Amino acid sequence: MRKKIIAGNWKMNLDIQLSEQLIKEILKNLNKEVFLKTDVVVCPPFTSLLTVFNLIKDSDIKLGAQNMHYENEGAFTGEVSAIMLKSVGCKYVILGHSERRQYFLETDKTVNLKIKKALEYSLNPIVCVGETLEQRESGIQESIVEEQVKNCLKEITSEQLKKIIIAYEPVWAIGTGHTATPTQANEMHKKIRSVIEDLYSTECAKELKILYGGSVNEKNSADLFAQSDIDGGLIGGASLRSKSFTEIIFSVV
Ligand code: 13P
Repeated sequence: MRKKIIAGNWKMNLDIQLSEQLIKEILKNLNKEVFLKTDVVVCPPFTSLLTVFNLIKDSDIKLGAQNMHYENEGAFTGEVSAIMLKSVGCKYVILGHSERRQYFLETDKTVNLKIKKALEYSLNPIVCVGETLEQRESGIQESIVEEQVKNCLKEITSEQLKKIIIAYEPVWAIGTGHTATPTQANEMHKKIRSVIEDLYSTECAKELKILYGGSVNEKNSADLFAQSDIDGGLIGGASLRSKSFTEIIFSVV
């Protein structure tokens, strides 16, 4: 049985004060039992990581970052390393989000390098894949996602795979209000699992956690999470509202 994960991607939102306010409200709304069913991760912007860490460190909520560089240190102005993320209390890092791919020219190749570096420092990568609207309309969504998964996981061992979470986030569903139907999402998750089965083993495919992301809210989350191959969600907009985020967490059955 794969334990569910609900991760909030705050993107480039909330200053320190607002981050503090949001995490305090989330903490107030959750109880111990929730964490038996689901792991909860919040991924604030870099500037809020330390503040949020200090508020959650005695709770079961885990901290994640939204990106990192694949080198340890050096002349990479504006970048943050795995070591830095570890030192601020991160356990997870989102890698290859479609917004990073679209606006910052992130590629499967750099995502692959970042995954390896994250694993070296015991950070759990949440690796994002997903097709654009054009690709779905051309019917090539499965081959696009298959390619992304294969490229991102190049030279990753089955032992390392255990630490990796895949997030299927169709680009057309992100921030648009057009969420994938539970069936559409589940079909792609099954496809990803079959790719993993071919690359590794049936056992690895069964163990892999695959999250769905793209316009998840408290109204559609229960149906999505009830699907056989959906192991939780990567939540954007709704993770910025404490009530919505906690209702999404409570919708895990
Ligand atoms: P929305 O939930 O705002 O659609 O964003 C999804 C996402 O990109 C999470 O990483």
